[in-house]
Amino acid sequence: MFTFTNQFISNDNNVEFLKANMMGPNAMRVAEELASYLNINEDMRILDLGCGCGLSTLLLTKKYGASVFAADLWICPTENYERFQSIGIDDKTVPISVDATKGLPFANEYFDLLFTVDAYHYFGDKTEMLPSLIPYVKKGGYIAVAVPGLKNEFGKNVPLEMQPFWNDEMERTLRSLDWWKDLWSKAKGIEIVDSREMACCKQAWDEWLTSPNPYAINDIDMMKAENGKYYNLVQLIAKVI
Ligand SMILES: C[S@@+](CC[C@H](N)C(=O)[O-])C[C@H]1O[C@@H](n2cnc3c(N)ncnc32)[C@H](O)[C@@H]1O
Repeated sequence: MFTFTNQFISNDNNVEFLKANMMGPNAMRVAEELASYLNINEDMRILDLGCGCGLSTLLLTKKYGASVFAADLWICPTENYERFQSIGIDDKTVPISVDATKGLPFANEYFDLLFTVDAYHYFGDKTEMLPSLIPYVKKGGYIAVAVPGLKNEFGKNVPLEMQPFWNDEMERTLRSLDWWKDLWSKAKGIEIVDSREMACCKQAWDEWLTSPNPYAINDIDMMKAENGKYYNLVQLIAKVI
């Protein structure tokens, strides 16, 4: 399943690139697992929403030859353009600044696939977000999301060992697979075709902890306390009907 990611990190320079550009659980590996449930090809136009530094964009362009609009809020498009030039994917990508909560600057039915890795939980936790995104995807196209989450909802019973790390943003964004399925089942115009816990969960989190990113260093003690008991990666795929 992870042929591209494993091949990519067999080169030491690529490992440094990956460590420098991860912003959470290894987005290239997570993207590769999510993509394995879709039929992506070089004729497709994909919106990579919340692309961050573009690790998922790199996977979609290099492994599948797809054209990708790499859209993000925090990372400036010029920075992504320079990065895309440095890795030879600038001809396949359009870096663009968007805030998904403010509406997207695209035509209706423009994309074959809306793909989002480790970002949707920041902006997609309200009932109205999914219906606001559906119009940008062609009928018969797909919306595919992978997000960090929980094996089971904590509710008010945050485990003792997690309490030093838990905060309001985590409470809002880290949800169980059932929670996401319930939210998505309220949307009209889609059919949920896949929802599951992801196989790469431990590996993607472990790879993130090797990054020099201060957030990764900060996460080391949290992941030691968590010890594989609570955190998850969940994916949902919906077909636009
Ligand atoms: C943890 S980073 C992950 C980025 C990338 N997909 C990855 O996995 O490396 C989360 C990303 O979500 C993006 N994001 C958060 N809120 C957003 C919004 N309202 N609209 C678009 N992107 C958003 C941020 O800009 C950030 O780059």
